[in-house]
Amino acid sequence: MDHGKEKTFQFVIVGGGIAGVTCVEQLSSQMPSADVALITAGPHIKAVTNYKQVSKTLEEFEVEELPSCVLEERFPNLTVIHSAVKSLITQSHTIKTADGRVFGYEKLCICSGSRPKLLAQDNPYVLGIRDTDSAQAFQKRLAKAKRIVVVGNGGIALELVYEVEGCEVIWAVKDKAIGNTFFDAGAAQFLIPSLEADKPERAAPCKRLRYTTEEPAAGAPQTFTADRNSMAHGSAPTESGSALGPDWHEGIILRGAEPVSHRVSVQYECEVAKIFTCEELLTSPQQKLGPENVGTWPVYIQLTNGKTFGCDFIVSATGVVPNTEPFLHGNNFALTDDAGLQVDDHMMTSEPDIYAAGDVCTACWKHSPLWQQMRLWTQARQMGWYAGRCMVAHVLSEPIELDFCFELFSHITKFFNYKVVLLGKYNGQGLGPDHELLVRCTKDQEYVKVVLSGGKMVGAVLIGETDLEETFENLILNQMDLTPYREELLNPNIDIEDYFD
Ligand SMILES: *[C@@H]1O[C@H](CO)[C@@H](O)[C@H](O)[C@H]1NC(C)=O
Repeated sequence: MDHGKEKTFQFVIVGGGIAGVTCVEQLSSQMPSADVALITAGPHIKAVTNYKQVSKTLEEFEVEELPSCVLEERFPNLTVIHSAVKSLITQSHTIKTADGRVFGYEKLCICSGSRPKLLAQDNPYVLGIRDTDSAQAFQKRLAKAKRIVVVGNGGIALELVYEVEGCEVIWAVKDKAIGNTFFDAGAAQFLIPSLEADKPERAAPCKRLRYTTEEPAAGAPQTFTADRNSMAHGSAPTESGSALGPDWHEGIILRGAEPVSHRVSVQYECEVAKIFTCEELLTSPQQKLGPENVGTWPVYIQLTNGKTFGCDFIVSATGVVPNTEPFLHGNNFALTDDAGLQVDDHMMTSEPDIYAAGDVCTACWKHSPLWQQMRLWTQARQMGWYAGRCMVAHVLSEPIELDFCFELFSHITKFFNYKVVLLGKYNGQGLGPDHELLVRCTKDQEYVKVVLSGGKMVGAVLIGETDLEETFENLILNQMDLTPYREELLNPNIDIEDYFD
C-alpha cells in the first residue's frame, strides 16, 4: 500500500524536549552518516547546557531554549520537521504529521513528554505553567493579583510558593507535609520557616535526633509528580511539546499587586472540592464564607477541609500525564497504570522498532533496589541518551547493558534557595518497616537524613551545603555494613569523608 511517504529516515525522534534532543545528539554523534529526523511542533528545542558530572551518579546542567537550526547546523544529516504528530501507523512504520505529511522510519523514539493534570479544563481562572509563554502569561496575571491559590505538592508548587512575592498565596496540599514527593515531614518542617521569613535567622546549635517515621500505606501508589514546572495550559499535547527548564523563574519576576513579600498559608491534607465563579456563589445561598473572603473575587475554590477561598486565579500543579494520545490509535502499546508507554531495559516499547524516553515512558525493567523513576529533567536526559545508544547498538547488532545511571537514583535541585540532594530511597520508598532514619538538623542551615536498611545506607536527603553527597553516594553504592559506625555517621564533629577513606 502506498502511504505517500515523503521520505523514510533511519531514525525518527518525536519531541524537542530534553529526552528527544539528547537522543538526537547521541544518535547523530555516534552515527554521523545516519539519516535522522526530529519531529517537533515548536520552533525551539530544549538543549542541555553546562553539563557537569558532579559525582559518579549526580549531574547538574542547565536547560536552554534554542532555535532548532542550531541542531541542524551541528548535525548536517539531521532534518527537523516542524509539525505535531497526527498519527502513527506501526504496521507500515509511518508517521503522519498535523500538516498532512507522511514520513517513514526504520527506528522511532517517542519523546513527547507529559502535560499537567489540570484541575479544570477550559476554566479561564485555572492556570498551569508549561512553557515560557505560559510562564509569561502567569507573570502578567500575577502582577494584578492580590491572592492566588496553588494546588499541588510537587516541585512546581514548591518553587512557585517560594518565588511569588507581593501576593497572598493559599497553598493546598493533599499530604500532611509540604513537598511530599521529595521530603518527609522533618525536612518539610525545616523548610517551612523559609516561607515565613525574608531573611534566614541565625543558625541555632547543632541538634541530633533519631526517629522513625510513619510507614507509607502498604501498596501506596508512587506519585510521579515532576519536579520541573512542566505545567500546561490545557494545550493539545502534541502542540508545543516541551516543558520549562529547571530555572524557569530566573529572569521572570513573580510579583503580585500587594506590597507584602512572602505570605503563604498552607492548607494541609485537602484537595479541591469545587471551583466556582462569583455569580455561582451568589446563587448558592448555603455557601458560607469566612471573614478572610471580604469583598468579591473572580473565582472561589472550596477545599475538602471545608474552607472556601476567593482568589484572583488558581494554579493547578497536581502532577503530569504522559503525552501518548497521537500514538495510541490503531496500535498496541502496552501502557502502565500511570498511562506511560512501557519500556524495557533497552528503552523499547511493546511495538517493534519503537523506543520511548523521558516523561512519556514508564521504566518497566526490574529496577535496581536503589533506583526509582521520577519524571525529572535528569532522568529525561539520561533516558534520551541511553535510548540513542540502544538504537545505535541494535542497528549495529552490538550488545548493550543497562546504563550505570539507573543503578542509583540521584538528583540535585534547589528548593527555597537551599541546595537539595536526593539519593536512593531517600524517603524510604518501598522499604519494609525495619528501616531506620538518622537525622541531623541545624535550623536555617542544613537538614541531613540518612535511610538505613539492615545496617546499610539506602538513601539520603541533604539540604543545605552539607558537602556529604559524594561520601554518602559511595556508602550507598558499596552497600557497606554501617552498623559499627551508626553513632558517628552524622556526628558533626567527625569528618566523615576521612573516616571512610
Ligand atoms: C552525512 O551522511 C553521508 C552519508 O549518508 C556521509 O557521507 C556524510 O559524511 C555525513 N555527514 C557528516 C557531517 O557526517
